[in-house]
Amino acid sequence: MGTNIFTIMSGLANEYKAINLGQGFPDYQMSEELMRKVNEVMHKGFNQYVPMQGYMPLRESIAEKVEFLYGSKVNPDTEITITPGGTYAIYTSLTAALQPGDEVIVFQPGYDSYIPNVEINGAVAVLVDLKFPEYKIDWNEVRKKISAKTRMIMLNSPHNPTGAVLNEEDMKELQSIVKDTNIFILSDEVYEHLIFDNIPHQSMLRYPDLMQRSFVCFSFGKTYNCTGWKLGYCIAPAELMKEFRKVHQFNCFSCHTPSQVALADFLKNKEAYLSLSGIMQEKRDYFIKLMKETKFDLLNSNGSYFVCAKYNRISDEGDKEFAIRITKEYSVATIPVSVFYKSGADNKVIRFCFSKKKETLDAAVERLIKIS
Ligand SMILES: Cc1ncc(COP(=O)(O)O)c(C=O)c1O
Repeated sequence: MGTNIFTIMSGLANEYKAINLGQGFPDYQMSEELMRKVNEVMHKGFNQYVPMQGYMPLRESIAEKVEFLYGSKVNPDTEITITPGGTYAIYTSLTAALQPGDEVIVFQPGYDSYIPNVEINGAVAVLVDLKFPEYKIDWNEVRKKISAKTRMIMLNSPHNPTGAVLNEEDMKELQSIVKDTNIFILSDEVYEHLIFDNIPHQSMLRYPDLMQRSFVCFSFGKTYNCTGWKLGYCIAPAELMKEFRKVHQFNCFSCHTPSQVALADFLKNKEAYLSLSGIMQEKRDYFIKLMKETKFDLLNSNGSYFVCAKYNRISDEGDKEFAIRITKEYSVATIPVSVFYKSGADNKVIRFCFSKKKETLDAAVERLIKIS
Protein backbone atom coordinates (compact mmCIF):
# COMPACT_ATOMS: atom_id res chain seq x y z
CA MET A 1 0.00 0.00 0.00
CA GLY A 2 1.42 3.39 -0.99
CA THR A 3 1.14 6.87 0.47
CA ASN A 4 -2.46 8.08 0.32
CA ILE A 5 -3.59 10.78 -2.06
CA PHE A 6 -4.27 13.35 0.69
CA THR A 7 -0.64 13.28 1.72
CA ILE A 8 0.48 13.44 -1.91
CA MET A 9 -1.83 16.33 -2.83
CA SER A 10 -1.07 18.27 0.37
CA GLY A 11 2.65 17.81 -0.33
CA LEU A 12 2.15 19.13 -3.87
CA ALA A 13 0.00 21.99 -2.52
CA ASN A 14 2.89 23.03 -0.26
CA GLU A 15 5.48 22.65 -2.97
CA TYR A 16 3.52 24.75 -5.48
CA LYS A 17 2.15 27.19 -2.86
CA ALA A 18 -1.33 26.12 -3.93
CA ILE A 19 -4.62 26.96 -2.28
CA ASN A 20 -5.63 23.65 -0.75
CA LEU A 21 -9.24 22.77 -1.61
CA GLY A 22 -8.22 19.12 -1.45
CA GLN A 23 -8.21 17.93 2.12
CA GLY A 24 -11.39 18.39 4.18
CA PHE A 25 -10.79 20.84 6.99
CA PRO A 26 -11.94 24.40 7.77
CA ASP A 27 -9.27 27.10 7.41
CA TYR A 28 -10.97 29.35 9.96
CA GLN A 29 -10.93 29.42 13.76
CA MET A 30 -13.07 27.11 15.89
CA SER A 31 -15.30 28.37 18.74
CA GLU A 32 -13.48 30.71 21.15
CA GLU A 33 -15.78 29.55 23.94
CA LEU A 34 -14.88 25.90 23.45
CA MET A 35 -11.15 26.72 23.40
CA ARG A 36 -11.58 28.74 26.60
CA LYS A 37 -13.43 25.90 28.29
CA VAL A 38 -10.65 23.42 27.49
CA ASN A 39 -8.11 25.83 28.89
CA GLU A 40 -10.18 26.38 32.05
CA VAL A 41 -10.63 22.70 32.79
CA MET A 42 -6.92 22.06 32.32
CA HIS A 43 -6.23 24.70 34.95
CA LYS A 44 -8.83 23.11 37.19
CA GLY A 45 -6.84 19.88 37.06
CA PHE A 46 -8.69 17.70 34.54
CA ASN A 47 -5.48 16.31 33.12
CA GLN A 48 -5.41 12.64 34.11
CA TYR A 49 -7.01 9.52 32.60
CA VAL A 50 -10.77 9.26 32.45
CA PRO A 51 -12.45 5.82 32.33
CA MET A 52 -11.87 3.70 29.24
CA GLN A 53 -15.47 4.28 28.03
CA GLY A 54 -15.02 8.07 28.19
CA TYR A 55 -15.86 10.86 30.63
CA MET A 56 -19.31 10.00 31.96
CA PRO A 57 -20.82 13.52 31.87
CA LEU A 58 -19.85 13.71 28.18
CA ARG A 59 -21.55 10.38 27.49
CA GLU A 60 -24.62 11.70 29.31
CA SER A 61 -24.63 14.86 27.20
CA ILE A 62 -24.37 12.73 24.04
CA ALA A 63 -27.33 10.59 25.16
CA GLU A 64 -29.40 13.75 25.74
CA LYS A 65 -28.41 15.10 22.34
CA VAL A 66 -29.34 11.84 20.58
CA GLU A 67 -32.73 11.80 22.25
CA PHE A 68 -33.32 15.44 21.27
CA LEU A 69 -32.22 14.96 17.64
CA TYR A 70 -33.32 11.44 16.80
CA GLY A 71 -35.88 10.58 19.47
CA SER A 72 -34.15 7.45 20.74
CA LYS A 73 -32.80 6.53 24.13
CA VAL A 74 -29.17 5.47 24.38
CA ASN A 75 -27.64 4.21 27.61
CA PRO A 76 -24.52 6.33 28.34
CA ASP A 77 -23.08 3.63 30.54
CA THR A 78 -23.29 0.70 28.14
CA GLU A 79 -23.91 2.06 24.64
CA ILE A 80 -21.53 5.00 24.09
CA THR A 81 -17.72 5.02 23.92
CA ILE A 82 -15.57 8.11 23.34
CA THR A 83 -12.85 7.54 20.74
CA PRO A 84 -9.88 9.36 19.26
CA GLY A 85 -11.85 10.42 16.15
CA GLY A 86 -14.41 8.94 13.80
CA THR A 87 -11.87 6.92 11.80
CA TYR A 88 -10.78 5.06 14.93
CA ALA A 89 -14.43 4.40 15.86
CA ILE A 90 -14.97 2.86 12.41
CA TYR A 91 -11.84 0.71 12.62
CA THR A 92 -12.71 -0.49 16.13
CA SER A 93 -16.29 -1.35 15.13
CA LEU A 94 -15.07 -3.43 12.21
CA THR A 95 -12.48 -5.19 14.33
CA ALA A 96 -15.10 -5.95 16.99
CA ALA A 97 -17.62 -7.33 14.49
CA LEU A 98 -15.68 -9.10 11.74
CA GLN A 99 -14.18 -12.57 11.45
CA PRO A 100 -11.82 -13.67 8.66
CA GLY A 101 -13.81 -14.54 5.54
CA ASP A 102 -16.80 -12.34 6.39
CA GLU A 103 -18.11 -10.15 3.61
CA VAL A 104 -18.81 -6.46 4.00
CA ILE A 105 -20.83 -4.40 1.53
CA VAL A 106 -18.83 -1.23 0.82
CA PHE A 107 -20.01 1.52 -1.52
CA GLN A 108 -17.63 3.29 -3.79
CA PRO A 109 -16.53 5.97 -4.14
CA GLY A 110 -16.02 5.94 -0.37
CA TYR A 111 -13.85 7.21 2.48
CA ASP A 112 -10.38 5.82 2.05
CA SER A 113 -10.02 3.96 5.35
CA TYR A 114 -12.99 1.60 4.84
CA ILE A 115 -11.51 -1.06 2.59
CA PRO A 116 -8.10 -1.31 4.33
CA ASN A 117 -9.96 -1.54 7.68
CA VAL A 118 -12.12 -4.39 6.38
CA GLU A 119 -9.17 -6.22 4.84
CA ILE A 120 -6.87 -5.94 7.86
CA ASN A 121 -9.50 -7.99 9.70
CA GLY A 122 -9.26 -10.76 7.08
CA ALA A 123 -12.70 -9.87 5.76
CA VAL A 124 -13.65 -9.19 2.16
CA ALA A 125 -14.98 -5.86 0.87
CA VAL A 126 -17.80 -6.55 -1.61
CA LEU A 127 -17.96 -3.40 -3.69
CA VAL A 128 -21.09 -1.68 -4.95
CA ASP A 129 -20.73 1.40 -7.16
CA LEU A 130 -22.92 4.39 -6.39
CA LYS A 131 -24.87 5.41 -9.48
CA PHE A 132 -23.05 8.23 -11.27
CA PRO A 133 -23.63 11.20 -11.42
CA GLU A 134 -26.13 11.39 -8.52
CA TYR A 135 -24.13 8.86 -6.49
CA LYS A 136 -27.33 7.14 -5.34
CA ILE A 137 -27.41 3.61 -3.96
CA ASP A 138 -28.78 0.97 -6.32
CA TRP A 139 -30.51 -1.24 -3.76
CA ASN A 140 -31.15 -4.00 -6.30
CA GLU A 141 -27.42 -4.18 -6.84
CA VAL A 142 -26.98 -4.44 -3.06
CA ARG A 143 -29.53 -7.30 -2.94
CA LYS A 144 -27.58 -9.15 -5.62
CA LYS A 145 -24.32 -8.85 -3.68
CA ILE A 146 -25.71 -10.10 -0.36
CA SER A 147 -24.63 -13.67 0.43
CA ALA A 148 -24.67 -16.04 3.39
CA LYS A 149 -21.26 -14.56 4.31
CA THR A 150 -22.45 -10.92 4.43
CA ARG A 151 -21.70 -9.71 7.93
CA MET A 152 -22.01 -5.97 7.53
CA ILE A 153 -23.16 -3.09 5.34
CA MET A 154 -21.17 0.16 5.60
CA LEU A 155 -23.03 3.42 5.03
CA ASN A 156 -21.97 7.04 5.05
CA SER A 157 -24.42 9.94 4.94
CA PRO A 158 -23.76 12.78 4.29
CA HIS A 159 -21.23 11.21 2.00
CA ASN A 160 -17.58 11.86 1.41
CA PRO A 161 -16.49 12.50 -1.37
CA THR A 162 -19.79 13.27 -3.13
CA GLY A 163 -22.10 15.14 -0.70
CA ALA A 164 -24.91 12.63 -1.45
CA VAL A 165 -27.34 11.96 1.42
CA LEU A 166 -29.64 9.07 2.27
CA ASN A 167 -33.40 9.68 2.11
CA GLU A 168 -36.40 7.94 3.66
CA GLU A 169 -36.76 5.64 0.66
CA ASP A 170 -33.16 4.46 1.17
CA MET A 171 -33.90 3.73 4.80
CA LYS A 172 -36.94 1.61 3.83
CA GLU A 173 -34.82 -0.36 1.37
CA LEU A 174 -32.13 -0.89 3.97
CA GLN A 175 -34.66 -2.02 6.55
CA SER A 176 -36.18 -4.53 4.15
CA ILE A 177 -32.74 -5.91 3.17
CA VAL A 178 -31.49 -6.53 6.71
CA LYS A 179 -34.81 -7.74 8.17
CA ASP A 180 -34.53 -11.33 9.44
CA THR A 181 -30.75 -11.42 8.84
CA ASN A 182 -27.73 -11.20 11.16
CA ILE A 183 -26.22 -8.37 9.14
CA PHE A 184 -24.65 -5.53 11.12
CA ILE A 185 -24.56 -1.93 9.95
CA LEU A 186 -21.62 0.43 10.24
CA SER A 187 -22.97 3.94 9.82
CA ASP A 188 -20.42 6.70 9.39
CA GLU A 189 -22.31 9.83 10.41
CA VAL A 190 -19.42 12.21 10.99
CA TYR A 191 -21.16 14.84 8.83
CA GLU A 192 -24.52 14.57 10.65
CA HIS A 193 -24.73 18.36 11.08
CA LEU A 194 -23.35 19.21 7.66
CA ILE A 195 -26.58 18.66 5.77
CA PHE A 196 -28.25 21.31 3.62
CA ASP A 197 -31.50 22.37 1.98
CA ASN A 198 -33.62 21.48 5.05
CA ILE A 199 -33.07 17.77 4.45
CA PRO A 200 -33.31 15.76 7.69
CA HIS A 201 -30.28 13.61 8.50
CA GLN A 202 -31.25 9.94 8.24
CA SER A 203 -29.42 8.62 11.28
CA MET A 204 -29.63 4.89 12.03
CA LEU A 205 -30.55 6.13 15.50
CA ARG A 206 -33.98 7.20 14.22
CA TYR A 207 -34.91 3.60 13.33
CA PRO A 208 -35.16 1.11 16.23
CA ASP A 209 -34.82 -1.96 13.99
CA LEU A 210 -31.65 -0.55 12.35
CA MET A 211 -30.22 0.87 15.57
CA GLN A 212 -30.26 -2.53 17.26
CA ARG A 213 -27.72 -3.83 14.70
CA SER A 214 -25.66 -0.67 14.13
CA PHE A 215 -22.34 0.79 15.12
CA VAL A 216 -22.86 4.53 14.55
CA CYS A 217 -19.71 6.66 14.38
CA PHE A 218 -19.39 10.41 14.97
CA SER A 219 -16.65 13.05 15.04
CA PHE A 220 -16.41 16.14 17.24
CA GLY A 221 -13.74 17.38 14.85
CA LYS A 222 -16.32 17.79 12.07
CA THR A 223 -19.03 19.20 14.31
CA TYR A 224 -16.92 21.85 15.99
CA ASN A 225 -14.49 22.89 13.24
CA CYS A 226 -11.54 21.24 14.97
CA THR A 227 -10.56 18.26 12.83
CA GLY A 228 -7.14 18.24 14.49
CA TRP A 229 -8.67 17.33 17.84
CA LYS A 230 -9.34 13.80 16.57
CA LEU A 231 -12.09 13.10 19.05
CA GLY A 232 -15.32 11.25 18.35
CA TYR A 233 -17.56 8.48 19.61
CA CYS A 234 -19.37 5.32 18.73
CA ILE A 235 -22.92 4.37 19.67
CA ALA A 236 -23.95 0.72 19.54
CA PRO A 237 -26.29 -1.63 21.43
CA ALA A 238 -24.81 -2.89 24.72
CA GLU A 239 -23.84 -6.36 23.48
CA LEU A 240 -22.01 -4.90 20.45
CA MET A 241 -20.46 -2.13 22.52
CA LYS A 242 -19.09 -4.79 24.90
CA GLU A 243 -17.10 -6.24 21.98
CA PHE A 244 -16.09 -2.78 20.79
CA ARG A 245 -14.63 -2.00 24.21
CA LYS A 246 -12.60 -5.22 24.23
CA VAL A 247 -10.68 -3.83 21.24
CA HIS A 248 -10.63 -0.25 22.49
CA GLN A 249 -9.24 -1.06 25.95
CA PHE A 250 -5.93 -2.35 24.58
CA ASN A 251 -5.62 0.10 21.76
CA CYS A 252 -6.34 3.64 22.92
CA PHE A 253 -7.87 2.99 26.35
CA SER A 254 -8.76 6.57 27.22
CA CYS A 255 -8.96 9.79 25.16
CA HIS A 256 -7.83 13.36 25.79
CA THR A 257 -9.40 14.40 29.09
CA PRO A 258 -9.65 18.22 28.94
CA SER A 259 -11.48 18.13 25.58
CA GLN A 260 -13.97 15.62 26.94
CA VAL A 261 -14.65 17.66 30.07
CA ALA A 262 -15.13 20.85 28.04
CA LEU A 263 -17.37 19.13 25.49
CA ALA A 264 -19.58 17.62 28.20
CA ASP A 265 -20.72 21.16 28.91
CA PHE A 266 -20.46 22.62 25.40
CA LEU A 267 -22.70 19.91 23.91
CA LYS A 268 -25.63 21.36 25.84
CA ASN A 269 -25.42 24.44 23.61
CA LYS A 270 -27.78 23.29 20.83
CA GLU A 271 -27.23 26.41 18.74
CA ALA A 272 -23.52 25.57 18.41
CA TYR A 273 -24.27 22.41 16.43
CA LEU A 274 -27.65 23.33 14.91
CA SER A 275 -26.20 26.46 13.29
CA LEU A 276 -23.56 24.48 11.40
CA SER A 277 -25.74 23.39 8.49
CA GLY A 278 -26.75 27.01 7.72
CA ILE A 279 -23.16 28.26 7.91
CA MET A 280 -21.85 25.50 5.67
CA GLN A 281 -24.76 25.72 3.23
CA GLU A 282 -23.90 29.39 2.76
CA LYS A 283 -20.33 28.39 1.92
CA ARG A 284 -21.53 25.76 -0.53
CA ASP A 285 -23.85 28.24 -2.24
CA TYR A 286 -21.14 30.90 -2.35
CA PHE A 287 -18.73 28.45 -3.96
CA ILE A 288 -21.38 27.29 -6.49
CA LYS A 289 -22.02 30.91 -7.46
CA LEU A 290 -18.32 31.66 -7.94
CA MET A 291 -17.74 28.48 -9.93
CA LYS A 292 -20.33 29.50 -12.53
CA GLU A 293 -17.61 31.72 -13.99
CA THR A 294 -15.37 28.68 -14.62
CA LYS A 295 -15.57 25.79 -17.07
CA PHE A 296 -16.17 23.26 -14.32
CA ASP A 297 -19.64 21.70 -13.99
CA LEU A 298 -20.48 21.09 -10.37
CA LEU A 299 -22.48 18.01 -9.37
CA ASN A 300 -25.14 18.07 -6.68
CA SER A 301 -24.05 18.19 -3.02
CA ASN A 302 -26.58 18.13 -0.17
CA GLY A 303 -24.09 17.68 2.63
CA SER A 304 -20.49 17.23 3.90
CA TYR A 305 -17.61 19.62 3.20
CA PHE A 306 -17.46 18.65 -0.45
CA VAL A 307 -18.78 19.21 -3.94
CA CYS A 308 -17.55 17.31 -6.98
CA ALA A 309 -17.08 18.73 -10.45
CA LYS A 310 -16.80 17.47 -14.00
CA TYR A 311 -14.11 19.10 -16.12
CA ASN A 312 -14.92 17.65 -19.54
CA ARG A 313 -15.28 21.15 -21.02
CA ILE A 314 -11.60 21.71 -20.15
CA SER A 315 -9.77 18.44 -20.74
CA ASP A 316 -10.08 14.71 -21.34
CA GLU A 317 -7.12 13.87 -19.09
CA GLY A 318 -7.54 11.26 -16.37
CA ASP A 319 -8.61 12.81 -13.07
CA LYS A 320 -5.30 12.21 -11.24
CA GLU A 321 -3.30 13.68 -14.08
CA PHE A 322 -5.69 16.64 -14.26
CA ALA A 323 -5.67 17.32 -10.50
CA ILE A 324 -1.88 17.17 -10.37
CA ARG A 325 -1.58 19.47 -13.40
CA ILE A 326 -3.90 22.16 -12.02
CA THR A 327 -2.03 22.08 -8.71
CA LYS A 328 1.25 22.65 -10.53
CA GLU A 329 0.05 25.10 -13.17
CA TYR A 330 -2.74 27.00 -11.43
CA SER A 331 -1.86 26.46 -7.76
CA VAL A 332 -5.20 25.02 -6.63
CA ALA A 333 -5.14 21.58 -5.01
CA THR A 334 -8.15 19.26 -5.28
CA ILE A 335 -8.69 15.50 -4.96
CA PRO A 336 -9.33 13.23 -7.98
CA VAL A 337 -12.45 11.15 -7.22
CA SER A 338 -11.04 7.95 -8.78
CA VAL A 339 -8.87 7.51 -5.66
CA PHE A 340 -12.06 6.79 -3.71
CA TYR A 341 -12.65 3.69 -5.89
CA LYS A 342 -10.72 0.49 -5.30
CA SER A 343 -11.13 -0.18 -9.03
CA GLY A 344 -9.75 3.30 -9.78
CA ALA A 345 -12.90 3.98 -11.90
CA ASP A 346 -12.41 7.38 -13.46
CA ASN A 347 -15.55 9.41 -14.24
CA LYS A 348 -13.33 12.47 -14.77
CA VAL A 349 -14.49 14.20 -11.66
CA ILE A 350 -12.52 16.07 -8.98
CA ARG A 351 -13.55 16.96 -5.44
CA PHE A 352 -13.47 20.47 -3.99
CA CYS A 353 -13.66 21.24 -0.27
CA PHE A 354 -15.67 24.41 0.37
CA SER A 355 -15.35 24.60 4.19
CA LYS A 356 -13.04 27.59 3.77
CA LYS A 357 -13.04 31.34 4.39
CA LYS A 358 -14.68 33.42 1.65
CA GLU A 359 -11.27 34.94 0.85
CA THR A 360 -9.84 31.46 0.28
CA LEU A 361 -12.71 30.49 -2.03
CA ASP A 362 -12.42 33.84 -3.87
CA ALA A 363 -8.70 33.43 -4.37
CA ALA A 364 -9.04 29.80 -5.52
CA VAL A 365 -11.79 30.54 -8.03
CA GLU A 366 -9.85 33.52 -9.38
CA ARG A 367 -7.22 30.95 -10.39
CA LEU A 368 -9.72 28.35 -11.60
CA ILE A 369 -11.34 30.85 -13.96
CA LYS A 370 -8.06 30.99 -15.87
CA ILE A 371 -8.22 27.28 -16.78
CA SER A 372 -9.54 26.91 -20.29
C1 LIG B 1 -16.55 10.01 5.76
C2 LIG B 1 -15.58 10.29 6.85
N1 LIG B 1 -15.55 9.49 7.91
C3 LIG B 1 -14.68 9.71 8.93
C4 LIG B 1 -13.80 10.75 8.89
C5 LIG B 1 -12.81 10.94 9.99
O1 LIG B 1 -13.18 11.63 11.10
P1 LIG B 1 -12.08 11.89 12.22
O2 LIG B 1 -11.19 12.98 11.74
O3 LIG B 1 -12.88 12.25 13.42
O4 LIG B 1 -11.32 10.60 12.40
C6 LIG B 1 -13.77 11.60 7.78
C7 LIG B 1 -12.79 12.68 7.71
O5 LIG B 1 -12.45 13.20 6.68
C8 LIG B 1 -14.69 11.37 6.74
O6 LIG B 1 -14.71 12.16 5.67
